[in-house]
Amino acid sequence: MNILLIGSGGREHALAWKLAGSPSCDKLYAAPGNPGIGENAELVDLDPRDHAAIVCFCVDNDIDLVVVGPETPLVDGLADSLHVADVAVFGPTAKAAQLEGSKGFTKELCSAANIPTAAYERYTSKADAIAGLADFKPPFVIKADGLAAGKGVIIAETHDDALAALDDMFGGGFGDAGASVVIEDFMTGEEVSFFALTDGIDVVAFGSAQDHKRVGDGDTGPNTGGMGAYSPAPVLTPALEAEVMAKIIKPTVKILADKDMPYSGVLFAGLMLTESGPKLIEYNARFGDPECQVLMMRYQGDLAQLMQATANAMLSKAPAPVFLDQTALTVVLAAKGYPGTPEKGGTICIGDVGNALVFQAGTTLNDGQLVANGGRVLNVTALGANASEAQSNAYAAIDVIDFPTGFCRSDIGWREVEREKMSK
Ligand code: AMP
Ligand code: GLY
Repeated sequence: MNILLIGSGGREHALAWKLAGSPSCDKLYAAPGNPGIGENAELVDLDPRDHAAIVCFCVDNDIDLVVVGPETPLVDGLADSLHVADVAVFGPTAKAAQLEGSKGFTKELCSAANIPTAAYERYTSKADAIAGLADFKPPFVIKADGLAAGKGVIIAETHDDALAALDDMFGGGFGDAGASVVIEDFMTGEEVSFFALTDGIDVVAFGSAQDHKRVGDGDTGPNTGGMGAYSPAPVLTPALEAEVMAKIIKPTVKILADKDMPYSGVLFAGLMLTESGPKLIEYNARFGDPECQVLMMRYQGDLAQLMQATANAMLSKAPAPVFLDQTALTVVLAAKGYPGTPEKGGTICIGDVGNALVFQAGTTLNDGQLVANGGRVLNVTALGANASEAQSNAYAAIDVIDFPTGFCRSDIGWREVEREKMSK
């Protein structure tokens, strides 16, 4: 089949690598892509916001499947535009993508389907939200309703900080995303990312991972899109995974189907493993970045075939996903300044990283030289028998990469590595 992949980050490079290696993929295009993706796919200069141009390209090039990497085109209805043109697409419609596009939508769904999550209230006026703070205890969890590029959640330690956050959100600091605000209870526990594929009817588990959101070692400093991840996350035991499928994922898929907005694609649940069981923090309508990179390194099947089966509501006929029984770990090399203003243009020489894989995110070519062009730049990904071994393999690969304006955390995987030390 011929496939068009939408996106340009490390997640999409990992998807491109796996799709290009799928026996059922004849030709892979990527729009707009990056130099790394260009090694696995033919890059096409299409703007993901230009739905008409994408549909036109699909018709002209006999595209059998479009795979949408990031959330914004999904929330904007790219899948809907492709459905109208009868082009199969891996990714949900705009209505179903509200699971990521509107925190209030998801919270209301959780209430209606009895899905475990933090207790919440939704407010559309600042005055009501300020009055509502009285119903919550600090730390206050305050969320802009809409898409905010991962920056729409503020954990306010004090009442004054909460007032400042509400001021910012209702004052337009988050654009339209902050016109409606959710305040919810603070949950404690370990966080884990869980993935499931669904065609709206059937659902299959697609692995777990643990991300590292803070920029600094020991989980310190500001939040980022994710500085590294490993998969699987054994803290999500088979029993907990079964509970997540039964109490969170399946009821979500069912209630969306019942509401006539069936969800198709990958469902990414951010979970908190609390003392009273797993609870949903948030849903994403796409793979995690950098979680996708570690899932792809472990996934063993024909990804193109599995995604096509998902897109065509044939998931029940597809072979069950099989993953390598090893740990994959990825370390993000970011440009200095990230998550503030990253330094652009720093030169990168990847060198011989052995069996590791280097997925490219914010890169570009400058006169044939690979240079940094974004915050998160490279995802250095390696396998190992366990997290400790995968960690040393990934950092050994980083040692051979020459990227003077880059930096990384030195402790990716630390929770699992500590558990492995304790169990020796
Ligand atoms: P989200 O964008 O909803 O995943 O939130 C970003 C981060 O904020 C999460 O990864 C958690 O670390 C934290 N967070 C969000 N909601 C809560 C909550 N109710 N309790 C504790 N931490 C939360
Ligand atoms: N790594 C978290 C995310 O993709 O949202």
